[in-house]
Amino acid sequence: MVTDNSFDVLIFGSGAAGLTLALRLPEYVRVAVLAKGTESEGCTLYAQGGISVVTEETDTFESHIADTLDAGASLNNPDTVRFTIERAPAAIRWLVDLGVPFTRDSEASKHDNFHLTREGGHSTRRVVHAADATGRAMETTLLDAAHGRRNITLLEHHIAIDLITGHKLGLAHNRCVGAYVLNREKQRVEAFRARKVVLATGGASKVYLYTSNPDTSSGDGIAMAWRAGCRVANMEFNQFHPTCLYHPKAKSFLVTEAVRGEGGRLLLPDGTPFMERFDARGNLAPRDIVARAIDHEMKRLGAEYILLDISHKPAPFIKEHFPTVYARCRELGYDMTLEPIPVVPAAHYTCGGVITDLHGRTDLPALYAVGEVACTGMHGANRMASNSLLECLVFGISASEHIAATLDDTPLPPVVPAWDESRVRDSDEEVVVSHNWDELRRCMWNYVGIVRTDKRLQRAWRRVDLLQQEIQEYYSNFTVSNDLLELRNLAQVAALIIRSAQSRKESRGLHFTLDYPELDTSRPPTDTILVPGQPQATGRAE
Ligand code: FAD
Ligand code: SIN
Repeated sequence: MVTDNSFDVLIFGSGAAGLTLALRLPEYVRVAVLAKGTESEGCTLYAQGGISVVTEETDTFESHIADTLDAGASLNNPDTVRFTIERAPAAIRWLVDLGVPFTRDSEASKHDNFHLTREGGHSTRRVVHAADATGRAMETTLLDAAHGRRNITLLEHHIAIDLITGHKLGLAHNRCVGAYVLNREKQRVEAFRARKVVLATGGASKVYLYTSNPDTSSGDGIAMAWRAGCRVANMEFNQFHPTCLYHPKAKSFLVTEAVRGEGGRLLLPDGTPFMERFDARGNLAPRDIVARAIDHEMKRLGAEYILLDISHKPAPFIKEHFPTVYARCRELGYDMTLEPIPVVPAAHYTCGGVITDLHGRTDLPALYAVGEVACTGMHGANRMASNSLLECLVFGISASEHIAATLDDTPLPPVVPAWDESRVRDSDEEVVVSHNWDELRRCMWNYVGIVRTDKRLQRAWRRVDLLQQEIQEYYSNFTVSNDLLELRNLAQVAALIIRSAQSRKESRGLHFTLDYPELDTSRPPTDTILVPGQPQATGRAE
């Protein structure tokens, strides 16, 4: 059966990036926003700490820029950093106008009265937030606004499989013309076509066994763009958040860095503080440094967790600032107003991704990438806290402006061929998918984690290479399912991460290897760029 869905703009992803872009397009543009699960599920919903922005007279763009470059170990693109930070106030104003209920502080000096919190790497308080559930406040507000727009069609439970390009259709000009999508409720593959296609599919932290991310973060957009011929960059820089709650029933529960911003301290299991031994900024050092210090101490002591303590602050203060974290801890038997809580690092954020320019344009004409899926140059070798939602907003807006300005130059493509299922059958061995899934994520956690070596990377490469072959065989023979599609993408992203890590012969930001423990200062910092069809990574000096 041929189902042809055509739109002006087809957006994969209903998180902060995808919804911002959709809402900022003019109302005459027909837009589809597809989500592979429910419309609200994605990292945005779980974001806690907030969004960084210069609002106070005592703060400056220059200071925000300097902190971002310092956290990013100078691998950031300075032009992108400036572009993003200078556009932050207008982006936050737009969210306020839409109705996002940011926490206010009657003592703040500016008329907006934002309560500003602080997180690792920031030299001052500059993070606006909605208590400790900023992402939920943002996601629900954006979704409400999207539901109110007649030009926006939201489709849940639609997972993109692969992009359709002019090349694949034999068109004279190569560009992105749509995608094949599995409608999970109807269990059929549908073809979508559009003048412009946007990947806003989030990151890939699910490639690791332990992660703060929901199930949506399986790197689908990065893998799809790569298969369609786009370059990806800096995939070795996967960020590990220092403090996820350690509890068998608390899968993926993050304890926001703002807890440390408001005075929380990291302690060894016997109650000894330790962060000052690793960095003069102590508990508020950038995330790569804190996660590595925790990893070091846990391995040294054979400890299963370390402690995070804010119980010295008044109980009403803790409950007011961290209602979500407090409530979840109570459900699990911890009272953070009275005692320290056990925490461990977990995979949190993909700093690398699909290479884009300042308008979100990728290498493939008519294809854009915004949000965590993209590598814009904003984060360098380590994203600073609360700079991600900011990037989603600023690039959602700039991509929408470029799309609106160029839509008339891009005709609707011809009808695309239906998905060919003539050579596949239903799988009789679905357990293979879950076994491969587990093996892949365990291998990445054990060999491509916070501390790497050449040998571990080589070991990981051999396993992932084999897994990719098995998965490809399975993919070619059996009907596609959600789990199979995600596994195929995760294996692709794992291979990109390992190749990138192998090619970086230094330790920088989130990439730390015992074989090259120092920063390479003999030449300018260089991005790791992977080009489809080319075996070696190339570099781009900033
Ligand atoms: P997401 O919000 O992850 O949305 C991805 C969307 O893509 C979903 O709708 C999903 O269904 C869809 N999708 C994925 N694959 C497909 C496919 N194949 N087909 C169709 N749809 C697909 N950052 C900050 O700046 N401040 C914070 O306080 C903060 N706190 C965080 C707390 C947690 C627990 C986590 C996990 C992250 C946090 N981050 C924070 C990071 C930030 O939340 C994310 O980087 C950001 O929300 C990413 O937004 P996005 O729109 O790019 O993707
Ligand atoms: C947190 O609240 O600790 C997460 C913030 C971020 O990832 O930027």
